[in-house]
Amino acid sequence: MFDTMTVTKAAGALIGALLFLLLVNWGASALYHVGSAGHGEGEEHAQAYTIPVPETEEGGEGGEEEIDFAALMEAADPAAGEKGFGKCKACHAVDGSDGVGPHLNGVVGRDVASVSGFAYSSGMTDHAAEAPQWTPEALQEFLTNPKGVVSGTKMSFAGLKKPEDRADLIAYLQSVE
Ligand code: HEC
Repeated sequence: MFDTMTVTKAAGALIGALLFLLLVNWGASALYHVGSAGHGEGEEHAQAYTIPVPETEEGGEGGEEEIDFAALMEAADPAAGEKGFGKCKACHAVDGSDGVGPHLNGVVGRDVASVSGFAYSSGMTDHAAEAPQWTPEALQEFLTNPKGVVSGTKMSFAGLKKPEDRADLIAYLQSVE
């Protein structure tokens, strides 16, 4: 009687404990899998792809260009810029005449959208309200990505990706009054 009760209790306790452990274990592994395979990895991927991109674009490129540009302008080569201007010639002249685009002699320091008789897009005239002058900095920004900087511009040009090319070109434009 005493023995039977003890054995029964012990067995009951053991089975109870095993069941409890099984449940806890199952519950924990379910949580673990959800955490690592779904949510966790998703987050890691999101971070791996989204966070570094703005950091390198804004922090890296922006900072780098602001700091480097003055130095680049000092080292710029107008003769190389004149060659680079070949990419603009289809639309722009430097003899005071306007084509698809307005003439660019004297453009450095000129007011934005100020060539009289040239039909600027409203994107460009709106831009003039925000940034009224083509300073070397404004030009280098615009020439990096014309449509990105002046939304709605009718200048169909992808942009000059190399900062050196932009600096050379601006140095050339500075030399044609
Ligand atoms: C496919 C033709 C085309 C090419 C190529 C082109 N442009 Fe333009 N550009 C235009 C047009 C059109 C405008 C007027 C934009 C507007 O009104 O939105 C313009 C406007 C500009 C302006 C503003 C002028 C002002 O009076 O406010 C600058 C600066 C400029 N271009 C520089 C350049 C340079 C430098 C290049 C070569 C790297 C170049 N463009 C290549 C067509 C072109």
